[in-house]
Amino acid sequence: MRIDVYPSLLGLEPTRLEGRTAIAIDVLRATSVIVTALANGAEAVLPALTPEEAREVAAGLPPGRFLLAGERESRLIPGFDLANSPREYTAGRVAGRVIVLTTTNGTRAIRACEPASAVLVGSFLNAGAVARAAAGEQKPVAIVCAATRGEFDLGDVAAAGAIVAGIRRGFAPGAEPELNDLARAAHDLFDLHRKRLGELLAGTRHGGGLERLGLGGDLPRCAALDSRPVVPWYRQGRITLVP
Ligand code: MLT
Repeated sequence: MRIDVYPSLLGLEPTRLEGRTAIAIDVLRATSVIVTALANGAEAVLPALTPEEAREVAAGLPPGRFLLAGERESRLIPGFDLANSPREYTAGRVAGRVIVLTTTNGTRAIRACEPASAVLVGSFLNAGAVARAAAGEQKPVAIVCAATRGEFDLGDVAAAGAIVAGIRRGFAPGAEPELNDLARAAHDLFDLHRKRLGELLAGTRHGGGLERLGLGGDLPRCAALDSRPVVPWYRQGRITLVP
């Protein structure tokens, strides 16, 4: 098996994903939000590229069944029900609902994974569960970091490393998957910081920006390794827990 980690969507040719299991990661905060929403009983998350697209998708859903959600500049979009903080996605708010979600980088990364043969949504919260599901697909794995406006994001790469470590654990010594250089670096980065993931996130540019907006309480939520062991699958416009 082969595992490649890609730092952002920049230069990521769709053909690199064909025939592979793709895992999209946006630790701060879109994929942490999606994992939290589905773990708390949301029926599905529909990732949209823009607020306009999200409103159009929602217009086709039965009233009362959906919530419009997402952020621009990390803040609530006017007229939307939820922003992009995992703390908002409680069971009371999301259980049984379809969430139409648009975020700056995360939903874009998920949609960019469409050429892959299967698409999973990963984060620290579900790293071990996603690693096992990806290994079970028995195809080369492409881990796609959303990054922050194309800029390398340490949190995304560390979460990619947690997933690489999880996949490697399933292989006998000497028969481990082949890793590209960023997959190796991600694995070592995760290993170095695994006991201090919250601090790692707080030290990133995006994490610091969230703290300045008064959203620092999201960082420990997004750093809670294997706290939500669910496997979100993206297929035909919907993310659900059904493979
Ligand atoms: C994104 O998708 O760009 C992020 O989730 C932004 C954020 O932290 O709200």
